[in-house]
Amino acid sequence: MIPPRFLCLALPLLFAALTTARGQDVEAKVEEILSKLTLEEKLGQLRLVDGHAGGGWKPQHRYLAQQGLLGGTFNVRGTGPTGEMQRAALATRHKIPLVFAFDVVHGYRTIFPVPLGEAASWDLELAEKCAAVAAKEARSANVSWTFAPMADIARDPRWGRIVEGAGEDTVLTSAFTAARVRGFQGNNIAAPDRMLSCLKHFAGSGAAEGGRDYNIAEVSVRSLRETHFPPFLAGLAAGAGSIMPTFSAIDGVPATSNPWLLQDVLRKEWGFNGVVVTDYDAVGQLANHRVAATYPAAGLLALQSGITIEMWGSCMVEAESMMKTPANLKLVDEAVRNVLRMKFKLGLFDKPFGDPAREKAALLNPDHLKLTREAASKACVLLKNEGNTLPIPASAKKIAIVGPLADDRTSLIGSWSGDGRPEDAVTLVDAVRDRLGASGTVIHESAGNASGFSFSRPSDGVEAAKDADFVLVVIGETADMSGEAASKSSLDLPPLQLDLVQKVHALGKPYAVVLMTGRPLTVGWLAETCPAILLTWFGGTMGGPGIADVLFGDVNPSGKLPVTFPRSVGQIPLTYNLTPTSRPYRADDKWTSKYTDISSSPLWAFGHGLSYTDFEISQPMSSQLRFPIDGKVTFKVSVKNTGSRDGDEIVQAYIRDDVASITRPNKELKAFKRVSVPAGKSVMVDFEIPAKDLGFWTPKGEYVVEPGSFTLMVGDSSESVQSARFYLE
Ligand code: BGC
Repeated sequence: MIPPRFLCLALPLLFAALTTARGQDVEAKVEEILSKLTLEEKLGQLRLVDGHAGGGWKPQHRYLAQQGLLGGTFNVRGTGPTGEMQRAALATRHKIPLVFAFDVVHGYRTIFPVPLGEAASWDLELAEKCAAVAAKEARSANVSWTFAPMADIARDPRWGRIVEGAGEDTVLTSAFTAARVRGFQGNNIAAPDRMLSCLKHFAGSGAAEGGRDYNIAEVSVRSLRETHFPPFLAGLAAGAGSIMPTFSAIDGVPATSNPWLLQDVLRKEWGFNGVVVTDYDAVGQLANHRVAATYPAAGLLALQSGITIEMWGSCMVEAESMMKTPANLKLVDEAVRNVLRMKFKLGLFDKPFGDPAREKAALLNPDHLKLTREAASKACVLLKNEGNTLPIPASAKKIAIVGPLADDRTSLIGSWSGDGRPEDAVTLVDAVRDRLGASGTVIHESAGNASGFSFSRPSDGVEAAKDADFVLVVIGETADMSGEAASKSSLDLPPLQLDLVQKVHALGKPYAVVLMTGRPLTVGWLAETCPAILLTWFGGTMGGPGIADVLFGDVNPSGKLPVTFPRSVGQIPLTYNLTPTSRPYRADDKWTSKYTDISSSPLWAFGHGLSYTDFEISQPMSSQLRFPIDGKVTFKVSVKNTGSRDGDEIVQAYIRDDVASITRPNKELKAFKRVSVPAGKSVMVDFEIPAKDLGFWTPKGEYVVEPGSFTLMVGDSSESVQSARFYLE
């Protein structure tokens, strides 16, 4: 027996011993199973097939499960359908459970704002909580593996998948990726409310040329390391147990058949020991890339390049006859080990089935709905608010709501909306009606089905709005206009929408534009003319009430843009962190780097977002001017709320390396903090930035931090900052 006084010390040691014993136990079980499997059964474990979009299974896949020739499925969900499939798998001689995967991107049944919108909150705690709820609901439906988060940096708003990530910045995306992984996985993916996450799309997917989905990405290794890899590293450091290569070819080599990416970098350099799952049919598509002549050849190439599991297709299975060499058999065994380890870590051998009672209690639980309402408000970015048009004054009793997105439930839950149901979504019209009750009137004519690229209805509702005290114009893109396979060459508002806003403007009444979108749009006319614009993205199941909370002033908006809004498509790529040129832009000098037909500035800069109150952020202060190169840069700012409402401000710290051996961006976000400041009060905000974060990758592939002068810029957006100089030595 251990004497009590040693217990505290002994506990961690005992725990470590237990973990190791359990680890050895798992390894022994893995080896035991592996030794009994035929090659056909092994290849079956490396196969993940799809279910119906509605969540049901396909008979041919149940047949595979009955033969012991299937590793798992995706899309099949719910305790009912997964139970039917699982029973088939467990009736085989090896009794290896299936794993059920699904794209739980921003919620399972309760849907949160789209990831880009959630990132506009700059609230990592919120992101972690939302992912945890998503995991809880999904796991209750016996889905234990999500293909999320997307860790891609998106610098081209034409790319529809920009909506699935955290925007253009590496530091912000890294922080959100890690928070989402923590939320999905917690400390133990076997727990009944957690699931395995999958970082995608490794790597450089967001750099697809021309913003065209699936296109090649011409990115240098330096830019991969500096810009595109860090969010994946952050996700792995947070414990992500699986990763999905991009469909794209990087420097000519498709990621699915890229041993440099999947083995040299991921496994050898970063020490990843989890599962690499291909994207949908990506092995078969190696033939489209024309790097494999046949599907079996593609299967072998994928396995040899570092793929563990093939999603959707069967090329690896079809390559069975080529897998029989000792070297290939070794690769198959290693991949199967990784799949079995994943299933053990998920606790599937112990708990292969879901529990219908838990599922019923979890889905759309009131606490989850409350959180999605909070998330929807926090995602809102107040882009413009001339003369305090918003919040809607209490005196406004007749509110007209026009525009195709005002009651579009499908768009509200966005793309990749999991098992979310449009009928569960509460629209802005519902929310405003509910809020006004008998004390006011909502004037609204339904747009009917607003999906697609235009909207149609008997009238546009403007005539009826003539009687209103205040008009809300709810416009933007429908959810299907962004997301996968939704790249666009124009970022203008869909047809008729500008015309609608112009008609409302002509009424001469107070009005605000509510802009729903999954990507930046070129809305120069709105920016110049409309009195108020609230960007809401797609707010999720409780999007309507969450947005209404902001419009009516119960919640003071605090969101900031995680991505630059360009003035025109021709300006793209346009991000806040541009590098200097030989002839930096000057408005009055033709011979500088610019377009001659448009301003060089964005419509709205990265980090921009207003509040119903005003904040004053001081000049950054530090007791030191010089910091050790192996230490930390420390400074503080005071944030004063000079208005009459409490509010949250997001303080952003950008740094520039003033003179370096290679050309460095004019500014890069290095840290940010969200602070609540009561009206009339000040709060001190401390920052500590490790000096090692101020380095860069050289063209030779080395990471260096160079001593010398740096400029620190702190403010409430990338364009509105106060600076100070410091030195690293
Ligand atoms: C997408 C992935 C997704 C997969 C499974 C693919 O088309 O690129 O992001 O996880 O489908 O639904």
